[in-house]
Amino acid sequence: MVCLRRVYKYFESGRGRTYVLQSINLDVREGEFVTIMGPSGAGKSTLLHILGLLDGAFEGEYGLLGHAVHRMRPRERIQLGRENIGFIFQQYHLLDDLTVYENLAIPLSYRGVKPAQRAAIVAHSLDRFQIVGKRNLFPNQLSGGQQQLVAVARAVIANPKLILADEPTGNLHSEQGKEIMELFRRLNGEGTTIIQVTHSEENAAFSKRIFRLRDGWVEGDSGNDPADRGNAIKSEGADFQSTCRETHADTCSQGCTGGV
Ligand SMILES: Nc1ncnc2c1ncn2[C@@H]1O[C@H](COP(=O)(O)OP(=O)(O)OP(=O)(O)O)[C@@H](O)[C@H]1O
Ligand SMILES: [Mg+2]
Repeated sequence: MVCLRRVYKYFESGRGRTYVLQSINLDVREGEFVTIMGPSGAGKSTLLHILGLLDGAFEGEYGLLGHAVHRMRPRERIQLGRENIGFIFQQYHLLDDLTVYENLAIPLSYRGVKPAQRAAIVAHSLDRFQIVGKRNLFPNQLSGGQQQLVAVARAVIANPKLILADEPTGNLHSEQGKEIMELFRRLNGEGTTIIQVTHSEENAAFSKRIFRLRDGWVEGDSGNDPADRGNAIKSEGADFQSTCRETHADTCSQGCTGGV
């Protein structure tokens, strides 16, 4: 579903380029639940933004669901994200001038869900996250934890194929945090692919694989099973097309063939 090959990300500063991601290779299969861990500043959010199609300014190659993302125009990239990805931002990023209800309705309208059906789905979501009483409030009228709950609700409401979650429980009471993790486990059981960033070992334990970053480099990948993921990990210097075709023949062949 996801294949990154030799992805680099840098920022320009007075002193030249500062690299915050270096030579990142990552393969994620449909249905996986992956945790990205690493110290503050390691590049976790930066990587998640690239995976979430929110940042197209990177070097290297990114295949998602058979699309060569690194060759897509911004508008196409945004559209692909709206159709397939639910993103939970570390800083929530709810739309300030929309109510909770309206924030939750947006992903559904992007996907062409009719107004009557939208209303029913949002009502169900408000109920599920126990925020019915907050439906007409604006984000700045909510506590940090409540905003985080709305952000999680918004990310999952349209049943995306891929959920990307950046510290999704950082501001929640431990019970609520556990409920979110249980929700992820259930969605993953139903086939949703999940990539989460967390500092919490407890949250990490809900996933089957830990991908570790340090200073922008891959430090380790517990999912590095030589039997099925060896190509991805050993792809340093190897050809993107061949490694991608071998490991992602099902999902990535379109994006990875044709001279990527
Ligand atoms: N716009 C920017 N300009 C310059 N440097 C940036 C910019 N955005 C991020 N960085 C740098 O990129 C590095 C990685 O940041 P990132 O937010 O990805 O870290 P993180 O692993 O998510 O950390 P945390 O656990 O604290 O959330 C940091 O050193 C940060 O200073
Ligand atoms: Mg971060």
